[in-house]
Amino acid sequence: MSATGSAYRRGPFREGDRVQLTDPKGRLHTISLTPGKEFHTHRGHIKHDDLIGAPDGSTITHTSGSEYLALRPLLSDYVMSMPRGAAVVYPKDAGQIVTMADVFPGASVVEAGVGSGALSMSLLRAVGDTGSVHSFERRADFAEIAKANAQAFFGEDHPAWTVTVGDLVESLPSAVEPGTVDRVVLDMLAPWECLEVVADALVPGGVLICYVATATQLSKVAEAMRDFGTFTEPEAFETLLRGWHLEGLAVRPQHRMHGHTGFLITTRRLAPDTTPPVRKRRPGKGYAAQEEGTETEAPQVEPAPGADDAEWTPEALGERTASEKKMRKLTRGVVPPTPR
Ligand SMILES: C[S@@+](CC[C@H](N)C(=O)[O-])C[C@H]1O[C@@H](n2cnc3c(N)ncnc32)[C@H](O)[C@@H]1O
Repeated sequence: MSATGSAYRRGPFREGDRVQLTDPKGRLHTISLTPGKEFHTHRGHIKHDDLIGAPDGSTITHTSGSEYLALRPLLSDYVMSMPRGAAVVYPKDAGQIVTMADVFPGASVVEAGVGSGALSMSLLRAVGDTGSVHSFERRADFAEIAKANAQAFFGEDHPAWTVTVGDLVESLPSAVEPGTVDRVVLDMLAPWECLEVVADALVPGGVLICYVATATQLSKVAEAMRDFGTFTEPEAFETLLRGWHLEGLAVRPQHRMHGHTGFLITTRRLAPDTTPPVRKRRPGKGYAAQEEGTETEAPQVEPAPGADDAEWTPEALGERTASEKKMRKLTRGVVPPTPR
């Protein structure tokens, strides 16, 4: 038996497949192949029937005479065009999460929140059918959209995926046996609130990776990981991806790029009753900590405006989520994919 979803990624285009059409100006249009349907532009149309049965990577002639390129969207294309309630983890960060958190086939992974399900799909691909991804999401409407997105991509419900609607802190302890989860991935406003339940769930040596949008969140979660005492010294990084323009002799970086998506911070669960080794290197000025008998003086730093706990809201962190009206429209549009 082939791995879930793989059958839909190969072979000629079939009814129900999503196809990405690239027009002569390089613009992308995604359609779901339906017999008898037409894809219309202001200059004419393309018949879906002319694509059904054609090989992936074909060109198709529009009634205006222009050639359109037809390809099955890759996961990275799909997540950027699928319906979303919350901001998605971009493919460049999803790739880093899978690699830096060492998400392996067969792994047991816990994820929160689910949002639109973009990261969940990368995690499911990495663990495969024999692994497990248990995702937690506070908002039932977001969870519905994420499930519909994943089902449309994999062609069926992924056997490794469980979605629980609820807060991670409240739901995780009863959902998993303590010390059994290999990897935990958090993409949420306040990951520091979850450290206790995450530490209980992780196997010794297990990896926790958090994706946060702002430096204030990064700082708060790093300090919380250190203070918690059962995690290794955290490591943080970000990834900048710069596309290149390739045209004749004009081979150069593209002028536009996504300057910022988020920061990643990783740490590992220590074995029970193990305390992290004392850091030998002196922290720089401004860091308040006790180092092997040396007391560093706590700096008199004014908290950043908005650093108060009450201020950790999506708006305060500049996050954009769909309006109530858009969510009502999106959830109305959530229909199960045509069985294939
Ligand atoms: C930015 S979105 C996640 C996007 C997702 N990673 C993706 O790629 O589509 C953050 C989500 O976390 C959820 N959330 C925040 N705190 C949570 C918690 N403690 N437990 C469960 N879900 C939480 C929010 O409702 C929101 O949907």
